[in-house]
Amino acid sequence: KDIPFKRRTRLPFTPVAVTRADAITVPAGYSATTFIPWGTPITGRYPAWLEDGSNSAEDQAQQVGMHHDGMHFFPMNAKLGGRQSDHGLLVLNHEYIDAPLLHRNGPTVVGGKRTNVDEVRKEINAHGVSVVEIRRGPRGEWSVLPTARNRRITGATPMRIEGPARGHALMRTRYSPSGTSTRGTLNNCANGHTPWGTYLTCEENWAGYFATTDTELPRELSRYGVRSSSRYGWETVAGDEFERFNATRMAAAPQADYRNEPNTFGWVVELDPFDPNATPVKHTALGRFAHEGLVFAPVKPGRPVVCYSGDDSQNEYIYKYVSRDKYRPQRSDGRLLDDGILYVARFNADGSGDWLALDHANPAFKRACEAAGVQFADQGEVLINTRLAADIVGATKMDRPEWGAVNPDTGEVYFTLTNNSGRQEADASNPRAPNPFGHIIRWREGSSDFAGTRFHWDIYLLAGPQENSRGPKGKPLDESSILASPDGLWFDDEGRLWIQTDMSGSQLNSGPFGNNQMLVSDPKTGETKRFLVGPKGAEVTGIATTPDFRTMFVNIQHPGEGSTTTNYTSTWPDGPGRRPRSATVIITREDGKRLM
Ligand code: FEO
Ligand code: CA
Ligand code: CA
Ligand code: CA
Repeated sequence: KDIPFKRRTRLPFTPVAVTRADAITVPAGYSATTFIPWGTPITGRYPAWLEDGSNSAEDQAQQVGMHHDGMHFFPMNAKLGGRQSDHGLLVLNHEYIDAPLLHRNGPTVVGGKRTNVDEVRKEINAHGVSVVEIRRGPRGEWSVLPTARNRRITGATPMRIEGPARGHALMRTRYSPSGTSTRGTLNNCANGHTPWGTYLTCEENWAGYFATTDTELPRELSRYGVRSSSRYGWETVAGDEFERFNATRMAAAPQADYRNEPNTFGWVVELDPFDPNATPVKHTALGRFAHEGLVFAPVKPGRPVVCYSGDDSQNEYIYKYVSRDKYRPQRSDGRLLDDGILYVARFNADGSGDWLALDHANPAFKRACEAAGVQFADQGEVLINTRLAADIVGATKMDRPEWGAVNPDTGEVYFTLTNNSGRQEADASNPRAPNPFGHIIRWREGSSDFAGTRFHWDIYLLAGPQENSRGPKGKPLDESSILASPDGLWFDDEGRLWIQTDMSGSQLNSGPFGNNQMLVSDPKTGETKRFLVGPKGAEVTGIATTPDFRTMFVNIQHPGEGSTTTNYTSTWPDGPGRRPRSATVIITREDGKRLM
């Protein structure tokens, strides 16, 4: 009998070939099992998922949402510092929806307006976050426990606003005249988790959920791409819960309409997964942009906490946050994310880099604002206009920054730059113009506490086909390691880098790469191999493991993207004739040992 696992390598598996199979493909010796697909009941009445799409909005609010993305596993005893691996909370984002698949007959639109209130509510409820208590049984199988810890957070859940923009004039709305709260989190892409055991979910392409018919847009809307029509048309339905997506000025006072509602989105949201009644918090000190995720540098008692976040849009930036207060184990909490300095990265051509402060009190920032002829009344206004502030200081425009990860062995920070078809001119840190394949950049901070303003960077790999790629040790990638459009990125505890792809369009449907996939790369040796290939039309995104490294959770988002209500381009995971569903996949080794 073949022994699938090799010795003398930290990647002891046989790589899987590229494929366009409508299935999950993993190496010999591993198994992959579908878990909590969209529609799985987790709270309330536990309404069964209905294959024909006829679940109501209320049902959806008690079921797992659509379009699984970033994810984290919290051991049940995490608050006590435990590393329990057979029982915990799986927390995952639901980035957006596929309206043709969400409803029985697709979305109802009459004369450009949404007319079915329950449909629109269902769409809002299919967004957000799921908290699911799960346990591993004696035969290694995972199941959902029907407990009061299970929770759905949706695009309508009340949230508190904290940090410098709390109560700001630009945050005041009809719902919250004091500018201290808002409803919902939307387009939650990647994620993070804090040193104090809470979950972070990040608001990425929120701008498309709003519409305005104003012709002169304020900079806090125009710089983020709020337009005259929205992606799903929610603002066309009567009622305050929908009219809030219309940012048109309708009254004299800003707190009498929803012109400022978009300003309450674009933030990092913190939630305590162990307290199902806790109000999630939007932390404005971390900046407002198309937040992909948030990754922390290693924490040290008595030092500030440091975290990184990318703005995933063409020619946008990478940011770092340094808390004002110091980290104190067992005592620190989310308030560390409410007072600190936000920096943006400049990657210099000589391999050095600078963190440029976006701080109203910083003399260099003040001079840059003066030189640009731009005024900010206070730090809240700087943060609401984070992109503009970063433009002013001369940050480096990147090829769509996605996830970040910190190498536990070296402290180097890695970031995916997924692609940039719009790049006109190459520079040292974005060396291809255009860049259809993407790359992974990394840097080493100049100070051991990660809090300084200097760093040194290099490029870890250039993704692409063999003839247009460069692997970690300078050689081209080979058939076991070619990839394009890297997005998800994660280090396991032993310093292996896991890379997930988000190809779309012709890159996905033709050419050498096959379906979206997940690879593993060893920065020590440069060895890089394909570990998993997803089903048709799906993105592979979101990754977490149990502390014992025997169970891995990976999310499969939008299988069968582009399907109509009657013609499915994928039927994963339920099989022929069944509508495709986003789902988590559980990966284990057949011999029950650690994954690697
Ligand atoms: Fe939602 Fe940047 O991927
Ligand atoms: Ca992503
Ligand atoms: Ca992406
Ligand atoms: Ca996607």
